[in-house]
Amino acid sequence: MGQLKLSTDLWSSQTVFILAAVGSAVGLGNLWKFPYITGENGGGAFVLVYLACVLLIGIPVLMSEIALGRAGKANPVQAMSNLARENGASRLWALLGLNGVLAGALILSFYTVIAGWAVSYFFQSFSGAFVDMNASEANSHFDALMANPYELLFWHTVMSLVTILIVSKGVKAGLERAINLMLPALLLILLVLLGYATTTGAFGKSFNFLFAADFSKLTWESVLIAMGHAFFTLSIGLGTMMVYGSYLSQKSSIVKASLWIAFADTAIALIAGLVIFSIVFSNGLEAGSGPGLLFETLPVAFGQMAGGWFFGTLFFALVVMAALSSAISLIEPVVSWFDQNWGIKREKAVWILGTLIWVFGIGTVLSFNVWQDVHFLGEKTFFGTVDYLTSNIMLPLGGLLMAVFMAWVMTKEQIKTQIDLSSGWMKWFILDLKWLSPIAVLVVSSSGLVASESVLIMVAISLFLYGAYVWNVTRKN
Ligand code: TRP
Repeated sequence: MGQLKLSTDLWSSQTVFILAAVGSAVGLGNLWKFPYITGENGGGAFVLVYLACVLLIGIPVLMSEIALGRAGKANPVQAMSNLARENGASRLWALLGLNGVLAGALILSFYTVIAGWAVSYFFQSFSGAFVDMNASEANSHFDALMANPYELLFWHTVMSLVTILIVSKGVKAGLERAINLMLPALLLILLVLLGYATTTGAFGKSFNFLFAADFSKLTWESVLIAMGHAFFTLSIGLGTMMVYGSYLSQKSSIVKASLWIAFADTAIALIAGLVIFSIVFSNGLEAGSGPGLLFETLPVAFGQMAGGWFFGTLFFALVVMAALSSAISLIEPVVSWFDQNWGIKREKAVWILGTLIWVFGIGTVLSFNVWQDVHFLGEKTFFGTVDYLTSNIMLPLGGLLMAVFMAWVMTKEQIKTQIDLSSGWMKWFILDLKWLSPIAVLVVSSSGLVASESVLIMVAISLFLYGAYVWNVTRKN
């Protein structure tokens, strides 16, 4: 093992940290994934579960993850190992970091492919390809792109290269500069689109679709997807926020930062949903058309509306920028692990890892054409499998372990130096991390994975044993 280092490259201010974290949180999850899974899972009730998960699990885990990073002062693997040693806990906690760096690489492998679609659409919109396009043309247009593995591979490669180039420049020069430019532009363009959405005539319908809850449409699987998405969209459970937290100075307020991150991320997803479904409904299109939703429907709207060339081009530029600031945060945990633990310099590490991730991403490229009928997990394609394993299993599992570590292993004093909550809120915070979040994640995961009564009973028994065990351990200390 090489020279062990701690994170030293600090953010230049709290605001810059918040911008970077929001840049990580806001991405394809908000603009591409949230609308399409909301469409597939029936709208309102799904959105309500997602919002509840953000509030009750997401925000407490987000605060914990940043705190663990700042206290552990290193990449996720090393930070967990540092904290475990400090508190006399098992060094196996480093596995939590390992789960994270692996999940980050896996997510990035499909993330650059999907972002590549947006790069392609940006250029097409700019060249006027969407002018006067109707629904069936947009459909075949998207299908044609999906059917062409070489084109998908090309854009996947472009996106991967840009990500590698930015990350290789390091925290200050690379990440900060990129993010400072992206975020304000992103917000501005989204607000312009929101203004447009109110003129489509379907804004009310879109609003009802997102906020009128019909629970008959909800299954355990969709609850699991909603919960997994809360982790995905907030960038938690993996170590991104941990490594960003390790670059955060002790003076900054983790509570305030977390609330801003969650607020901005949720607001942007909901605005994106309102915009997209307004356009979907005003053109009589399908809400549940799947991963293609954004790409099959928006060109129609942009092709027909006044100023569509302009709005369309701006919109796809927005998707690409948002994806980029998230992509760099997906690779940062594993890069800092290579740099700090293995003595492989950032620049070299990024190129090695970036290449491996790019190769793995070819599986996702093929999922939409050559391997379209090759199934891995159940009915799922290669892409579907990687997405499912990361979002719905690895991230919730990582988040669960972070909550447990924070609440059961860290001392009261350690928590207090990191989390600046009043004593009243602190009680709720710890209660949530100790019981509500872990139990919710376990129940939802197991029932979503295997929806049968007997499994639920087994989960209840294991939870009881878990509680008894933890109770026993903490009493002895
Ligand atoms: N949150 C990003 C999005 O919504 C994706 C992302 C970036 C992410 N970093 C992460 C997801 C870390 C999970 C963990 O698109």
